[in-house]
Amino acid sequence: MAEMGKNIQTAADWLMADEVVAIPTETVYGLAGNALSENAIRKIFAVKNRPLSDPLIVHFPSLEAVKHYVAQIPDVAGSLMEHFWPGPLTILLPKSDIIPNLVTNGSPLVAVRVPNHTLTLALLKELPFPLVAPSANPFGRISPTDPKHVQEFLGDKIPFILDGGPCTVGLESTIVKITDGGKIQILRQGGISEETLAAFAELIEIEGAKQDVVPGSMLSHYAPTKRLVIGPIEKYIQEWEPEKVGYLGWNKEVPSLPKKNQVILSRTENLAEAARNLFSAMHQLDKLDIKIIVADTFPNHGLGKAINDRLRRAAAKS
Ligand code: TXA
Ligand code: MG
Repeated sequence: MAEMGKNIQTAADWLMADEVVAIPTETVYGLAGNALSENAIRKIFAVKNRPLSDPLIVHFPSLEAVKHYVAQIPDVAGSLMEHFWPGPLTILLPKSDIIPNLVTNGSPLVAVRVPNHTLTLALLKELPFPLVAPSANPFGRISPTDPKHVQEFLGDKIPFILDGGPCTVGLESTIVKITDGGKIQILRQGGISEETLAAFAELIEIEGAKQDVVPGSMLSHYAPTKRLVIGPIEKYIQEWEPEKVGYLGWNKEVPSLPKKNQVILSRTENLAEAARNLFSAMHQLDKLDIKIIVADTFPNHGLGKAINDRLRRAAAKS
């Protein structure tokens, strides 16, 4: 079991000793290590059982701190950073030589973000280096939005979990790239919606087929161990015994299923609330004695797009 606590100094001591620890962010918990240490970076890949081909996001305490680690900040990127940081937006920028190639899998672009969590911002300010931090789950599994999820998944592999409580956004950051023409390309849907970004610059889509070759956007991802399918729930109720069906619902229970098999993400139809509850609902349903998890399709706008994206990837394994 990893020690769990709120002491920033304990986390800092482990990180200074080149160890990896779990840290809270507003999106999901991260598995953090010194971004400038190849040794720490390799430990992160090993603990997650993640292929080295999947690059890591570098986390900073402020916009000012990023400047030293990137070669250039295009105007559009600058205004996005000022507007959304600290917050769930990750931006790809040309990296400076200080960032090890291992972080980006040899790409000239590095993914950077300033997370919005009091404990982690204080930790980042205290450290003499930025932190690489992928989500703190074994590769391909459900992302952790609560320190207990991290303890269950990785507690026997890491020394410390900085306990910042449950995550307030609950979905990973939106990842964007700025094109030469100053347009925004969304590489991963996440905590900042497409509609919100569209106010800053023109968006260009990557086609569906190409999306799966963006590193780390592998189709099968965020998956529970149980089979997960996208509804309609009625279809599966006819096929299975009610006791064996779990329901990941949008706004209300299904009367014909046992109540204990159902998690409703937002009774008031609030997409931010649904996003916040999504991964913990998946963790919860995965533990029940059921055969199949049936998820609703969510309204496909705002954060609903990212929710549908995560469910589609979770279902891809089945
Ligand atoms: O909200 C988040 O972004 C969380 C918290 C902990 O900050 N982190 C996170 O990291 O979701 P991870 O590693 O689970 O997902 C980040 C994805 C990777 O799958 C990777 O493909 C993409 O970001 N990425 C990172 N660096 C990249 C790069 N240089 N070029 C292209 N994609 C990159
Ligand atoms: Mg991840």
